[in-house]
Amino acid sequence: MSIIAKATPITATPLPVGPSLARPAPPRIHIRDLTVRYTPDTPVVLDGIDLDLHAGETVALLGSSGSGKSTLMKSLTGFAPITSGTVHVGEVDVARVRPRQLRALRAEVGQVFQQFNLIGRLSVLTNVLAGSLHRAGPLNALGTFRGADRRRALELLDRVGIAHKASDAARTLSGGQQQRVAIARALMQDPTVILADEPVASLDPRMSRVVLDLLRSISRDEGIPVLVSLHVLPLAMDHSDRVVGLRDGRVVVEGRTADLDAEGLATVYENDDEEVED
Ligand SMILES: Nc1ncnc2c1ncn2[C@@H]1O[C@H](COP(=O)(O)OP(=O)(O)OP(=O)(O)O)[C@@H](O)[C@H]1O
Ligand SMILES: [Mg+2]
Repeated sequence: MSIIAKATPITATPLPVGPSLARPAPPRIHIRDLTVRYTPDTPVVLDGIDLDLHAGETVALLGSSGSGKSTLMKSLTGFAPITSGTVHVGEVDVARVRPRQLRALRAEVGQVFQQFNLIGRLSVLTNVLAGSLHRAGPLNALGTFRGADRRRALELLDRVGIAHKASDAARTLSGGQQQRVAIARALMQDPTVILADEPVASLDPRMSRVVLDLLRSISRDEGIPVLVSLHVLPLAMDHSDRVVGLRDGRVVVEGRTADLDAEGLATVYENDDEEVED
């Protein structure tokens, strides 16, 4: 059984064709009837997904292993094929992006991963500056980062609470600190959206909450929508404005977090025990 909480229904607002003061801002992410099949011979992985993400909101993406969470995120950056349907990231029509435009598309999307994906031997500051490499022309003629970029990177490290670690090698930091560096690196891109795929799966409970609090405050303060996949229901309940639950590639729960209870969300995982074949 599935529930669809319609407190915040997925609206069918068309993308505006031009600037208009009277209209609300268009969504930063706009997905309609998205189907993903990795190859013609493999099953459909995402099936008829509709999803909008707006500035300032944190949306928790729930679902069992294999339900399609990572694939949904990958479809926003051209790492998963859009078999049918439409995906817009900002003004970019992802299904129509040419290979040489992929770099620009990926610059729009800040990404945070479970394993942080920092370069361990490089300093924390250099790792954050790497975020600016997504934009054109970050290096000056001497191959060093511009002063303005360095100042911005230091500001962002201050924002995530670890400016005092700027010159340390990234590998010497704790997991929670490394994840905050990764968040600063994502912010260095001035992203349209932040995608965080299980960003706290390698962290202890206290640090998980610190990192999720940080993502949500960034979303609110900077207006950057955050899509965060999580496996722990209480974390989703406490650290999101909205929840989207996937099951077998379909949205089976969608609504404002405040309107959902843990029991309703648990339907995302219903009968999972029966499917384990160990
Ligand atoms: N590159 C690929 N080629 C073919 N099938 C893939 C590929 N990547 C993922 N899949 C399949 O797509 C389905 C969804 O995988 P996905 O990684 O999106 O799930 P998930 O919800 O992120 O799972 P988890 O919680 O374990 O990270 C799985 O059945 C998986 O085997
Ligand atoms: Mg995944």
